[in-house]
Amino acid sequence: MRAAVVSQYHYPLNGRATSFAVNTSTSRRRSGAFTVRMGLKEDGPSLAIVGVTGAVGQEFLQVLSDRDFPYRNIRMLASKRSAGKKLTFEDKDYVIEELTEDSFNGIDIALFSAGGSISKKFGPIAVDSGSIVVDNSSAFRMDERVPLVIPEVNPDAMAHIKLGSGKGALISNPNCSTIICLMAATPLHHHAKVIRMVVSTYQAASGAGAAAMEELELQTREVLEGKRPTCNIFKQQYAFNLFSHNAPILSNGYNEEEMKMVKETRKIWNDPNVKVTATCIRVPVMRAHAESINLQFEKPLDEDTARDILKRAAGVVIVDDRASNHFPTPLEVSNKDDVAVGRIRQDLSQDGNYGLDIFVCGDQVRKGAALNAVQIAEMLL
Ligand SMILES: NC(=O)c1ccc[n+]([C@@H]2O[C@H](COP(=O)([O-])OP(=O)(O)OC[C@H]3O[C@@H](n4cnc5c(N)ncnc54)[C@H](OP(=O)(O)O)[C@@H]3O)[C@@H](O)[C@H]2O)c1
Repeated sequence: MRAAVVSQYHYPLNGRATSFAVNTSTSRRRSGAFTVRMGLKEDGPSLAIVGVTGAVGQEFLQVLSDRDFPYRNIRMLASKRSAGKKLTFEDKDYVIEELTEDSFNGIDIALFSAGGSISKKFGPIAVDSGSIVVDNSSAFRMDERVPLVIPEVNPDAMAHIKLGSGKGALISNPNCSTIICLMAATPLHHHAKVIRMVVSTYQAASGAGAAAMEELELQTREVLEGKRPTCNIFKQQYAFNLFSHNAPILSNGYNEEEMKMVKETRKIWNDPNVKVTATCIRVPVMRAHAESINLQFEKPLDEDTARDILKRAAGVVIVDDRASNHFPTPLEVSNKDDVAVGRIRQDLSQDGNYGLDIFVCGDQVRKGAALNAVQIAEMLL
């Protein structure tokens, strides 16, 4: 039975959580007169969450609880700013600790989501302490020694990493847009081999962290009240607007987010020749990304076969109701595990059945970050 979990955390204007209560009382199973706490298990691994106060960090807790992930103990880590704050998780009180070089002593699995520079500095320290690090940042994704894993797509990439071997290791979570895209594109790729993929993204505020969500909410109020919008996280007005993704622009004219989709797809599919191009856009949606994906195949693939393949794909749900014009939306996938796929149609601009257009939506804090990382951790158990 899946647990219904209530999470309450309140972000002040600087975007940092001030009080936390991840109420998981319904995740307990009753056994006679006793209530058994499902996650806490003496023989479970010892966990650390790096960046626990952030958007992804909070989602880690939610997902661990939803999935009854077994753990012996959890160390809650964040910056000096949060050290000493209290956090309740599965009815147990924790004090958030400042991340230091000693934070990983005795830790089996460390889930990192505190940004690339923190991962670069503390990831190797955690590995040297014997921890298996599942990292949400881009710090190690393109390092050929580090597996880049979507459990439904390339689980074999991490087959050599074993919990309990005493050896630490790094595993990277792909970029959130890449995960959502490949959840839908990979089953089709396996059937007909994608030779070219053109992606346009519509990315939510939550992808830029808790402070960006806070800013979108604040700006929306300000604009409705006729005030000048506060622009701290993004350089331009976000509410009632959209703009090219805020990642730095590179010398080839692409931004970093777009190039992540290009390079990560090649690594995950183990196909250096697949042609990928992307245009990434921030839209004023609070949570969950949407992507329009055009696929060109080596072998023919008609839309009915594609629909059948996607129907059977793990972690994918089809929302493709042409009669009532109902297709995936960010709102409908928010807080959901599955990536929704719709608008499945033959690409008219390509001869024969060699091209398809699809539209996907996925909760990028969840499947694009926390859920994917916890699924990776589950494969270690
Ligand atoms: N948001 C997404 O959808 C998403 C998806 C995929 C990947 N990611 C990646 O996940 C990471 C976190 O993203 P987020 O959206 O959760 O960001 P966020 O909401 O801004 O949270 C950042 C977290 O990092 C912590 N932190 C910052 N400086 C630190 C330091 N010096 N030492 C220890 N902890 C520190 C913060 O702690 P304090 O509260 O104490 O400052 C906070 O817990 C980033 O690398 C991001 O690219 C995010």
